[in-house]
Amino acid sequence: MRPVSLSGDGDVLAVSAGGPLQGELRVPGDKSISHRALLLAALADGDSSISGLSGGADVAATAAAVGALGAVVESAGEVVRVRGRELREPPGPIDVGNSGTSIRLLSGIAAGCPFTTVLGGDASVNRRPMDRVAEPLRLMGAEVRGVDGGRRAPLRITGGRLRGIRWRPPVASGQVKGTVLLAGLFADGETVVSEPIPTRAHTEEMLEAFGADVRVAGGEVAVRASRPSPFDIAVPGDPSAAAFWMVGAALVPGSDVTLHDVYQGQGRDGYLDVLHRMGADLTVQPTGDRRVRLVCRAGPLRGVTVTAGEVPDLIDEIPVLAVAAAVADGPTRFEGAGELRHKESDRLQNVLGGLVALGARAEVEGDTLVVHGGAGLRGGRIDAAGDHRIAMAFCIGGLAAIGETVISGWRSVATSYPGFVEDLARCRRA
Ligand code: S3P
Repeated sequence: MRPVSLSGDGDVLAVSAGGPLQGELRVPGDKSISHRALLLAALADGDSSISGLSGGADVAATAAAVGALGAVVESAGEVVRVRGRELREPPGPIDVGNSGTSIRLLSGIAAGCPFTTVLGGDASVNRRPMDRVAEPLRLMGAEVRGVDGGRRAPLRITGGRLRGIRWRPPVASGQVKGTVLLAGLFADGETVVSEPIPTRAHTEEMLEAFGADVRVAGGEVAVRASRPSPFDIAVPGDPSAAAFWMVGAALVPGSDVTLHDVYQGQGRDGYLDVLHRMGADLTVQPTGDRRVRLVCRAGPLRGVTVTAGEVPDLIDEIPVLAVAAAVADGPTRFEGAGELRHKESDRLQNVLGGLVALGARAEVEGDTLVVHGGAGLRGGRIDAAGDHRIAMAFCIGGLAAIGETVISGWRSVATSYPGFVEDLARCRRA
């Protein structure tokens, strides 16, 4: 039995337990930062350069979208150059594929542009809630139409002069905050987003770094009409990708993995906190500028409670943390995790289904995912349901299971981490 094999069309991955994970990796550039770098560079008046951009399909969709809106995007080896300019009406509908971040953030920019932009995606994106962005953008003065009264994409946005609003998103969402702040760059007066629970701060961090008029204080972020200055950015590694290897290293006996240059900042470091509380042998070494080196070694884990207030800080890491929880000693609760139903797939159901397929015991009680620990995982069949994080989380589960795990829908991994199998081969010892 080969430890990892991929079907000819790349859509079925078979994985089984093998040697430890050892060595050093640099995970792909952060997806959230990559989207925002492309969008802000498109708005800047001049040439920006981005190195370490995520190579995933989601970010490629944003690059294509800003191109359709008139920015010039060119790859030159490791660097992507973007020439920002006055945006223009795209020649046709923009297809964001599987990328919820692209459609939401782009809708904020479309709302500020004096033309009509049509934004749609694949079946998953077109199922996801869009009222959370349509509502504030309408209040700012944009016309937002769409399926089911604008609750779903495709969206048809006619923008123009906007007015600033004060917005308190009903769900804790970095995407909604980002969307409203980007629209605020085109609005008269101040646009303020006030957050019930702080979410990832990339939009405000990058607006501030790139010269837009932004103010952060007391749980509020405020912007005024302004244009980012052209910039050069080196995108740090994606903590959501790092989490797979940290859990893999914790679970596979004898492992010792180092990850270089991983972003660490507000709204993105909850997984490290949870792994610490679970007792993982994890070292976090700050290397400056919101970047860390991470080292994780194999060791026993214990179950923990993750509270609703923590969930926005680790929303994308719950699938792989749930795999860790299945092996940990004692139960783990992920409370207030209902937002997982609205991701690339219904992640509450698909995490539950995957855990059960690998022989773990778990339940969903309302919005809480309960994972009973202590399972010796056994190989099983997983349907990734078109969801990259489900595919990768259960690949990590498969590394710690007895027997073969077969994951269908593996191609979805290209959304965020096209080189995942190569990185696995790089750090897996015979
Ligand atoms: C993202 C925010 C999160 C996250 C998504 C990326 C972003 O979504 O799940 O993968 O870049 O702002 P929500 O903040 O809407 O939960």
